[in-house]
Amino acid sequence: MDPFGRHIDYLRVSVTDRCNERCLYCMPKGYKGWAGHSDHLTADEIVRIIDQSTTLGFRKFRLTGGEPLVRKDIVEIARRVWELPGVQTLGISTNGVLLKDLAVPLKQAGVRSVNISLDALDADIYRKLTGGRLDAALDGIGAAKAAGFEVVKLNCVLLRGVNDDQIPALVKFGAALGMPVRFIELMPLAPGGPVDERHFMSITEAMARLAEHGPLEPAHDKPHGHGPARYYKFRGAHVGFIGSITCADFCKDCNKLRLTADGKLRPCLGRHGEIDLMPALRGEGASVTDALHEAIANKPENHAFADDFQVNRPMTAIGG
Ligand code: 5AD
Ligand code: SF4
Repeated sequence: MDPFGRHIDYLRVSVTDRCNERCLYCMPKGYKGWAGHSDHLTADEIVRIIDQSTTLGFRKFRLTGGEPLVRKDIVEIARRVWELPGVQTLGISTNGVLLKDLAVPLKQAGVRSVNISLDALDADIYRKLTGGRLDAALDGIGAAKAAGFEVVKLNCVLLRGVNDDQIPALVKFGAALGMPVRFIELMPLAPGGPVDERHFMSITEAMARLAEHGPLEPAHDKPHGHGPARYYKFRGAHVGFIGSITCADFCKDCNKLRLTADGKLRPCLGRHGEIDLMPALRGEGASVTDALHEAIANKPENHAFADDFQVNRPMTAIGG
């Protein structure tokens, strides 16, 4: 339990700050990543931290980045994590570009759930927003479908004037594949980038936009887990809305900690606090479990995005 009575059992583990795309909302222009791979946790260290965390009751894990699939040992990491006795569920968040070849190996390694970024279905908008190729992402989504994961969700960050006309098409696309689409409010996490509060669109407005195309009703059956999305039904399909900025009670049920690829525990995305695990990993000072206890004890009640929050590292270096 953290100081606010929340049971923290979910660890999101960033395996790299590198990415093969350049999403406007995530990566500051010219971001080169850390100096070398030596800054990254090794597969052994990641597995060790996750193993230790299960002794504190962590059960749910997600590998993130940057783009986790650019790491050459990602399948090995997934397999070793899944083999740990305390691990109940394992997910991965990806832009999908490399899933064409990796969906089956990741499924075989034990990955249960895949969240794929899909911000547009128009190739030009997709390119403008991510720097990448829509075709590659769509091939990856197809491969995830064919591989038969338990859950595949599509994520779209809303950007006014950039992809806000894509909402109905994305919902239709997800419905045809049986994949819930989740629309996410823009968080100020890419400082100095081309995206700012003028691009912000609330989920309330996004819902109103979608409701112009057909009835949108609250879903009584949540499709999967207890994530922060509010789910609605649109023409029989689940559509999620993640109101990280506008929902007053957004943090009420937060059950997670983040681990950055350079070995810092981050209790909250929207607060600066971090606890360095590196000394513990090198056998200097407190143990890994002490550091995890400290991170839980330091979990703030809510994020500080409303207080003119200035992020201290870009999203790609925190972990999605
Ligand atoms: N605001 C909201 N969501 C973001 N993500 C990355 N940056 C932001 C941001 N600034 C989320 C997106 C993306 C995942 C990797 O992280 O959902 O798909
Ligand atoms: Fe890469 Fe994901 Fe960030 Fe886009 S949101 S730049 S795909 S890590």
